[in-house]
Amino acid sequence: MPNYMVHKFSKNLNIWSISKLGCRYLSWIQGLRTRPASIKMARQYNIRWAFNTKLWKPREDQILDASSYIQTEEKERISRFCFQEDAKSSLIGRLMLRKFAHLSTLIPYDNLCLGRDKYGKPILLGTGESPISFNVSHQGDYVVLAGNSEVKVGVDTMKIEPPVNKDIKEFFRIMRRQFSNQEWETIYKFQTELEQIACFYRIWCLKESYVKNTGFGLSTPLQDLNFSLKTLNLTVGEYVRDTELFEKGVLKDNWKFEETLLDDKHAVAVSLHINKDLEQEPVPFSFLSFEELVKEAKPLNQPDFVFRDEFMKKQFKSFETI
Ligand SMILES: CC(C)(COP(=O)(O)OP(=O)(O)OC[C@H]1O[C@@H](n2cnc3c(N)ncnc32)[C@H](O)[C@@H]1OP(=O)(O)O)[C@@H](O)C(=O)NCCC(=O)NCCS
Repeated sequence: MPNYMVHKFSKNLNIWSISKLGCRYLSWIQGLRTRPASIKMARQYNIRWAFNTKLWKPREDQILDASSYIQTEEKERISRFCFQEDAKSSLIGRLMLRKFAHLSTLIPYDNLCLGRDKYGKPILLGTGESPISFNVSHQGDYVVLAGNSEVKVGVDTMKIEPPVNKDIKEFFRIMRRQFSNQEWETIYKFQTELEQIACFYRIWCLKESYVKNTGFGLSTPLQDLNFSLKTLNLTVGEYVRDTELFEKGVLKDNWKFEETLLDDKHAVAVSLHINKDLEQEPVPFSFLSFEELVKEAKPLNQPDFVFRDEFMKKQFKSFETI
């Protein structure tokens, strides 16, 4: 397994154990305080947001403000990241979730309580069966969110880059069993290694967007999934919606996938679990600034100076990001 995969997986295992207790407590409080009989929903809320974390150089006042907008256990989890890049991505993801949950349910920002299900997937607490679906992904230079008030969504983004410390052939050999024969045939239709890796990560995003939508995470056997690409190339700013999913050879025609490139190095896929007849245009990604991200935010806690200072002191993974 490539190093960064191990990192991605262990990153998610860490979160899990840390947030569990706090969320149960918050869920209980939320149940007592604010459980609404019925939620007033914004109509047909279908959102795609992207935030470029590489371009964002956080200021002290921004981190201090942000510390008051997120739940305590989220702050604790973010504090545990060694590198500022990881802390930034996670913080932006949390702010996106809160913004989406607030705008789509109209629950006051400071009354929202987010928790995680038993697989670690973020959920809205205190509303009975969640009336909205949302999912976040952070990798490479981006954090993305897909959210929908009607159908279930999953999202995944990946940076298209050659594997670190491995040649591509060796990398593909390790990944052999995660992809179907037809998917490998599609990858090898491309001539250059860079094109092959781009196609590989495109299919990777499709698989992850599906797995993240169902919410079962690592327990889904990826080799049972076969993505059939009708449009071979993705282009920045153009959306492809004709990829089909077969599971154990059966077409899953109530699943749709929206794919694009956020820039020439980042693929993204959104999965939608829909009613077969529902046809809708792909929703384009909006690129948010920090100010737009926190526009509706309201403090849940006092600004946390310790959180801010620790955040600003975190080391960077590479000189490139300083
Ligand atoms: C849990 C899992 C789905 C998360 O995906 P990831 O690619 O590691 O990371 P991403 O950045 O895309 O997503 C992470 C976010 O997804 C959300 N998430 C966590 N667990 C989740 C789950 N079970 N289902 C859906 N979303 C989940 C969280 O918001 C998390 O961010 P946060 O913890 O900072 O809030 C993933 O670790 C996993 O289980 N993958 C299995 C599939 C696999 O092996 N894929 C290889 C591709 S071929």
